Amino acid sequence: MKILAIETSCDETAVAILDATGERGATTYRVLGHALYSQASLHSEFGGVFPALAKREHGNNITPLLRTCLEEASMLQSNAEEISEEKKNTIRTLLKREGSAAEMLVEFLDEIEVPPIDAIAVTKGPGLEPALWVGINVAKALSLTWNIPLIPVNHMEGHIISALATPTTTGDLQETFEVHNVPFPLVTLLISGGHTEFVAQDNWNTKQIIGETRDDAVGESFDKVARMLSLPYPGGKEVSRLAQVARDEGLPDIDPLPRPMLQSDDCDVSFSGLKTAVLYRLKEEIPSETITKQYARAFEDAVTEVLVAKSIKAIKKTNAKAFAVGGGVAANYYIQKNLTATLRQHYSDISLYFPKPEIATDNAIMIAMAAYYTDERVTDPSLLSADGRMGY
Ligand code: KG4
Ligand code: ZN
Repeated sequence: MKILAIETSCDETAVAILDATGERGATTYRVLGHALYSQASLHSEFGGVFPALAKREHGNNITPLLRTCLEEASMLQSNAEEISEEKKNTIRTLLKREGSAAEMLVEFLDEIEVPPIDAIAVTKGPGLEPALWVGINVAKALSLTWNIPLIPVNHMEGHIISALATPTTTGDLQETFEVHNVPFPLVTLLISGGHTEFVAQDNWNTKQIIGETRDDAVGESFDKVARMLSLPYPGGKEVSRLAQVARDEGLPDIDPLPRPMLQSDDCDVSFSGLKTAVLYRLKEEIPSETITKQYARAFEDAVTEVLVAKSIKAIKKTNAKAFAVGGGVAANYYIQKNLTATLRQHYSDISLYFPKPEIATDNAIMIAMAAYYTDERVTDPSLLSADGRMGY
């Protein structure tokens, strides 16, 4: 099944084309094309994602990315026959709120042949609704113009499957991933800019949240602390890099930061107190380079300790045989290292999964992957809508 996927839930605009084969639990994915544009630097001055800007940028970038991706997949062929005025007007109507995107897409689709795609996947939610709508409307336009079915995808399911997908590429072949022999019960810790939750599943079809953040998401708190330390948005990666520098340089520890809810007997977490502790303590100090590194380390240490302790609780509670970590923060090497060491020590047989760093943060490859595991098909595109708070 060849799937073209579109992701626009936050500040990454992405398009991917994958060839998926096999059944659930024994799947091979071949990445035929992937194009991604990160708007992160544009949102930097706002210290977070500014929805109206995200929406505008998705509209400006989606058609060029679609072209790049189809070209990479060798699916870009010029069209002998133009598309009908009626179809052009349908696209214009669908994209009437997306500014320049409408004409760009009309012109592009008018130029090219229908690509050999079996399904169009698009992120339905969760995420920023104005941003989600751009991807959804473009997906609807493609589906109607090319007469190809639509698959609505849950962004978080994309993060789960991208963690389970093991890279199997050899030599200079197209990038391939496999989802193979994942034992159940499976628990996935999802840690991103918008979410922090433990998702338990006994099979491929049902998912249950068994713990979540009571306030800030982990990525969000990394980004807020980064801002307090005068680091650019999104600062998670930089906080982590500086924390490692502090460890490598052997800088003295500052007084430890709080470990919120560490002792509570559930799988819930809370990070806003930790962020506030950094804010109050920094008030008395001008963060010099050394202090910045020390705080980065103290913060990463606190977050890691809480996540590791709660992961053990989640595994205990579910008797999990597999544990995965997904979402942008799953790219964090220190969290990965500590989780691996501690979980291996407690559960030597457990299967552990982390996403390949390139597909840990938002991307469209994971949306195509999740689409293959999604039964839902949209028969009437006019009925598909964004769901900013979409659950499982
Ligand atoms: O999954 P993602 O790309 O977007 C959402 O769906 O939210 O996650 C983005 C988040 C940001 O908060 C970013 O700072 C954080 O992931 N992040 C990291 C690292 N890489 C990305 N946080 C800590 N350490 C990292 N290495
Ligand atoms: Zn995400």
